[in-house]
Amino acid sequence: MEVIIQPSHHQLAVIASEIIRDALLKKLNLVLGLATGSTPIGLYKALVRMHKEDGLDFSRVTTFNLDEYVNIPREHPQSYHTFMAKHFFDHVNISVENQHIPQNTAENHETFCARYEEAIERVGGIDIQVLGIGTDGHIGFNEVGSSLASRTRIVTLTESTLVANAIHFGGDVSTVPEMAITMGIGTIMKVKQCLLLACGTSKSEAIAKAIEGPITVMMPASALQMHPNTVVLIDEAAASNLKEVEYYKRSYANKLKLESQ
Ligand code: PGA
Repeated sequence: MEVIIQPSHHQLAVIASEIIRDALLKKLNLVLGLATGSTPIGLYKALVRMHKEDGLDFSRVTTFNLDEYVNIPREHPQSYHTFMAKHFFDHVNISVENQHIPQNTAENHETFCARYEEAIERVGGIDIQVLGIGTDGHIGFNEVGSSLASRTRIVTLTESTLVANAIHFGGDVSTVPEMAITMGIGTIMKVKQCLLLACGTSKSEAIAKAIEGPITVMMPASALQMHPNTVVLIDEAAASNLKEVEYYKRSYANKLKLESQ
């Protein structure tokens, strides 16, 4: 894992957007794995700016979102379909048929989940997957106990996730959908590069355990220790429980020095 620590959320978003831009300039039909939540909003803003001001072209890009709640209408203000339209899809030129978000229904979900995996395979796999992390260490909606080889499937959300997401549902936990469709950890492990973003002290414990703790189903993000190309982008607050902060900073400074030679 490469750990990049920056003073602010803004700088993380800029670095993540530059990684995606550089990959897109090299491969016009880039396959992006996308995430929802408050953390990647700055990244989407930066990419939208690059599209509008610098002409960054997304016309051949394909996207796959990590997850979606089960049984809320697509047009619900808190559906991930709505989120993606509002923060990204409505502002860039990704064709609608290339946008994939898990379908928010439990009907035929087994067939749907298998097809989602097949659709990813058909385009040659995901090049870059954007990830957030839950305070309980989930990635996508792979909650504690998720098999580290799991694939796209329906899951029940943990109490801590329901509480964390209640803010988006008027603060009432009982109105947060209890189930979701999510790519599995095994699905995420097959992507070529992961960009894991996290900000704030509420994520510091999960980040420390995911990066420096044992690999365990009790901390789903720890599976990324076995991923060959994961970049962890975090602010100082999210880094505050890490033991090796100085080492990560020195490594990144040396990488930049090498690149500028
Ligand atoms: P957040 O959610 O970006 O809103 O903190 C991250 C997650 O739960 O995966």
